[in-house]
Parts: sequence; structure tokens; C-alpha cells
Amino acid sequence: MCGIIGIASKKLVTSNIIQSLKKLEYRGYDSAGIATIVNGEINEKKCAGRVENLEKMLFKSPSSGNLGIGHVRWATHGIPSHVNAHPHSSDEVSVVHNGIIENSNELKKNLEKKGYKFKSQTDTEVITFLLTDFLKDFDLVEAINKTLKTLNGSFALGILFKKYSNIVVGARRGSPLAVGYGPEENYLGSDSYALKSMTNKITYLEDGEVCLLTNNKIDFYNSKNKKINKEILTLSNDKHTAEKGDYKDFMSKEINEQNITAKACIKEYVDHLRKDINLYNFPINPLDINKIILIGCGTAYHSCVTAKYWFEELTNIPIDIDIASEFRYRKIKLNKKNLYIFVSQSGETADTFAALDLCKKNSVKTCSIVNVVESSIARSSDFVLPIHAGPEIGVASTKAFLGQMLVLYILAIKISEIRKEISKSDYEKKINDLKKLPDLIKNTLNYCQDNVPIIAKDFLKAKGAMFLGRGLSFPIALEGALKLKELSYLHAEGYPAGEMKHGPLALIEEGLPVVILAPKDRYFEKTISNMQEVIARGGKVILLTNEDNKVIRENVRFTLEIPVSNEHLTPFLMTIPLQFLAYHVASLKNCDIDKPRNLAKSVTVE
Ligand code: M6R
Repeated sequence: MCGIIGIASKKLVTSNIIQSLKKLEYRGYDSAGIATIVNGEINEKKCAGRVENLEKMLFKSPSSGNLGIGHVRWATHGIPSHVNAHPHSSDEVSVVHNGIIENSNELKKNLEKKGYKFKSQTDTEVITFLLTDFLKDFDLVEAINKTLKTLNGSFALGILFKKYSNIVVGARRGSPLAVGYGPEENYLGSDSYALKSMTNKITYLEDGEVCLLTNNKIDFYNSKNKKINKEILTLSNDKHTAEKGDYKDFMSKEINEQNITAKACIKEYVDHLRKDINLYNFPINPLDINKIILIGCGTAYHSCVTAKYWFEELTNIPIDIDIASEFRYRKIKLNKKNLYIFVSQSGETADTFAALDLCKKNSVKTCSIVNVVESSIARSSDFVLPIHAGPEIGVASTKAFLGQMLVLYILAIKISEIRKEISKSDYEKKINDLKKLPDLIKNTLNYCQDNVPIIAKDFLKAKGAMFLGRGLSFPIALEGALKLKELSYLHAEGYPAGEMKHGPLALIEEGLPVVILAPKDRYFEKTISNMQEVIARGGKVILLTNEDNKVIRENVRFTLEIPVSNEHLTPFLMTIPLQFLAYHVASLKNCDIDKPRNLAKSVTVE
């Protein structure tokens, strides 16, 4: 992951670099650094911790310069520390890096033999010394390309050279890098989001390409040192805001705006007047689909698990689900009659991208469901279905999960209609029910504001927690457990309720919080029996069910009630109390809500 910024300007650049790094902090936040060229020398400032620390450091000891590079780190090689923070500089070269250099140990040994002295434990420092070394014998572009050819692995780089003190260099392989055109200045950024406040004119480097930025021009080269031209794109005017407003943190904002997310998404896809779903130019005729394979990571994967249930109920198409990091390495027979759907909020997740790339190389049909429409995954797939959730900044995915599920559900209904596997009246009823979803979400949000905080207190002394559900509630149990562990660092497991007796029941002991997801669906009685088995063993049950549901509440510690809805819509409502729960447990434990430890928003390394 890690975030990179580079600016070549006529003005001083430090303050803009810092502001952009703050935007990039969702990519990594264990250390931060900046390098500028001051009086012809490389001036490097870096520290462990957040950009805030770097800002304080620069306040005490300012850094000037008209061009510079900046970095926020998510540690891969070497602990988060001052010495391992980027940039990594020699007297001649300064480098910021996102990605992993797989042959760094071997390269380091060779460079040490040549007399280069390494200060850090990172894989990045080899790039600094390789560049320094090649520069002795080659001109700038040749030295860069020679260096890149020596590296195995993935990288996006921002580089400064003492000798070429008006140039910022960008290069990539595997990890994304955007290039921005501004008035009297030009930019590099890990993504276009970091550049958006400065320009809407951008281009993306492709694998093996190098760019040289000065304040008034950008030159691009391929791996053969030949100059190339690139198309300039204009970024869409995003009406959504990436500000916290009155909220304490982004996560509470993002949870609380899920009714708006649902409304925006439904508006894009559903035509209530014609009682139809818009799906133009889909890459494969739904009548010809042999099988659908849904692929994602983390929360995005959970949306795929949920969608499997919808697709199986609404269509006769066989459905497979896969975790991208597994899919990409398995021996899979890719089939031209299958549709491969990739789900990713950021659209930059390395494993998901690699899985998509594998499909592209085998010329099978691909579709992506993303939040960031300018992302690598969106740009590489045959067809894109955006979720229209607006920027999601909190590392824990909330509104994007809802958006991913919603697009998948809408897609399942439409495919079912085209294949005539659903009656016209059922189709129209489902569309009608979708119209009610934003209000149902709003009611659930209001309900949770008042009722969840008190439950969170019960989790403070717990050793762990369990989340159990059946059918459509099973993936939501997985998601509830993921949210709790990611935010509060409490061990949590999500399980199909019926699976408990096959092992996990052994974990139940006096006082263990167990969240039972039991909406009034066809599994209800069975789930309640599983709940009794938990109670009998001392588990402290938090029951999540529907309003007006006459369940035996004896020995249930808390009951939370979501509105009654069409059975297919329950996952959208069930998720909300679980997001609130994780949020409040983490708040009580004083955890950093938007930036949980060890994580990053955009996982661009394997
Ligand atoms: O950007 P993506 O949707 O591809 O990200 C996938 C996962 O890294 C992500 O969902 C992660 O699990 C979240 N932090 C969960 O809240």
C-alpha cells in the first residue's frame, strides 16, 4: 500500500505535499516523510507515526524547495520507525516507494560489496543505491530503466535527483501511479484522489512506463527509453464530499449516510417509472452465462458471499465465490462462457487486480463492481458497475459494503428477469421493495444510535465474541466479526449457526458475547435452537431479529430489532447494528476508529 506524492512547481511545495499526504494516509500511516531539493541538495525529513508528526517536525524545522516527493508508509520490510520511513536517500538520489521488491536481499548483498552502506531494513533502499550506481555510467532515463529491470516485484516510485534538480521522476510496475497536470506545476500521486484538490487533468502510468515532471512539462518514456505520448483524462466532478463535517470520524459519517448511499445507487440503476433496471452493454448475454464467479477480498468478499445466496435464489446460474488471493494462484479452468465479477471498493486491491489480470490474459468476460471508477480494476475490466457511494475514507468498509451488496442484488434481479427465471410481477415487486430500502436503512440507523452503545459496554471485558447466522445472515455474521476485530482488536469469529456443534461450540463459556442473527426468515426456528444451545453453555446472547417478532427472550441479554422487510433486504439492515457495535466497542477501548492498527484502506501489496 503506502501513499506517494510528487510535485514539480514554481512555488514552494512542502505545504501541498503535506496536504496531499493527509489525503493519502488511508493507504498507510505508520510513518511519513518528505524530500525536497534545497539549494541543489536533497533535503530529507521523516519520522515514525502520522503525517501530523511530520507536520510538527516541519514547523520546527521548515523545508523549502520547488519540487519534492512525499510518502506515507504501511510497513512491509522493517518495523515502522524513523529509519525505515521513506524517503530513502543517498547524496545523489531520494526515493519513495509503494510495493515490494522481492529480490532486495540479493541486490543488497551485491550493493554492499560495492561499498554502499544501508541504514534501513527496507527493501526500498536498494532502489536508491541502484539508481546512484547506474547514474555513474548512464543518462537519467537509461539509469532509471536499468534500475527497474534489475528489480523483481511491484513498485510505484517517486524519485528526486540532485543532478537533475528540476525534475521529479515517477515509475511503476504493478502498483498504480497517477500523473496530474496543473497550472505551472505537475504532480505524481498514488491515486487521483490525492491529486483532485490540485487538478482534474490526469493520466495513469502503465507498467514499465517512466515519467519526468518539471513545472511546465511532463515527458513519458517506455522501458526501451523511447519517448511516448499519453492521453490526458478529465476526472469526473465528484458531487460527494470527502469531509467529516460534524462527525467525530469518517466511519461514523460513512455508517450514518448509508441511506443516502442506497438512494444514490438505486437511482443510478433502477427506473421506478418503467419499473425496470438499467443494464446497458453488459459484456455477456445473461442467457449465455454458464457460471458466475464472484471474487473479492475482506469485506468485498463478504458481499460476494451474500450475493451467492441471492443469485442462487433468483437464477439457475451456478455461482462460485472466491477470495482473490486464493483464486489468483489456484489451477482454475477459466471458461469463456463464465462471467467473472470482481468486487472492490478501492479498485486497487493487488490480489483482486491480479485475479482480474489472470482472467484478462485468458480472454474471459470480466465485470467489476467498484467505488472508485478511475481505479485500475475499473479500467481493466470489460464492464464496470459503480456503487456510487462517494469517497469512503475510514479503513473499515461500511457504506461501500452496502453499495457492493446493493449492486450485486440489483444485478441478480436483472439477470433473473432477462433469463425469465422470475415472474414479471415478482420482478416489479422487488423493484418496488428496493424503493423502500433507503427509508428502512434510515430507521435502522436511528434505532441503532440509541440502542447499540449500551451493548458495547458488555464487550469490554470479553476475551472474544462470536457472530452466528444462517442463510443470508451467515455472510453478515462474517462481516460483523470482521468489523469487530478490525476496529476493536477483539478476537471475533463469524460462523454459520448450524456449524457450531462441529467444533466452535467448544469456545462458548460463561459470559462470552454471542451475537445471534435471527431475522424472521425460513431459518428462524433453527437459528433460535442454536441460540438456546449457546445460552445453555453460558454464552451472553445479543439477539438481532425483526420488530414485532415474538421470540422467547428469556436468558437473552439484549435484543435488537430491525424493521420487517422483504427477506432479501435483511442483509442491508442486519449489517447496520453490527457496524455500530464494532464502532462503539472500539470507541470505548480508545482505538483509532478511522485508522485501525496495522491496516490500510487500499491494499496494493500481496
Ligand atoms: O478496496 P477493496 O474493497 O478491494 O478492499 C478489500 C479489503 O481490503 C477491505 O474490504 C477490508 O477487508 C476492509 N478494511 C474491511 O473493513
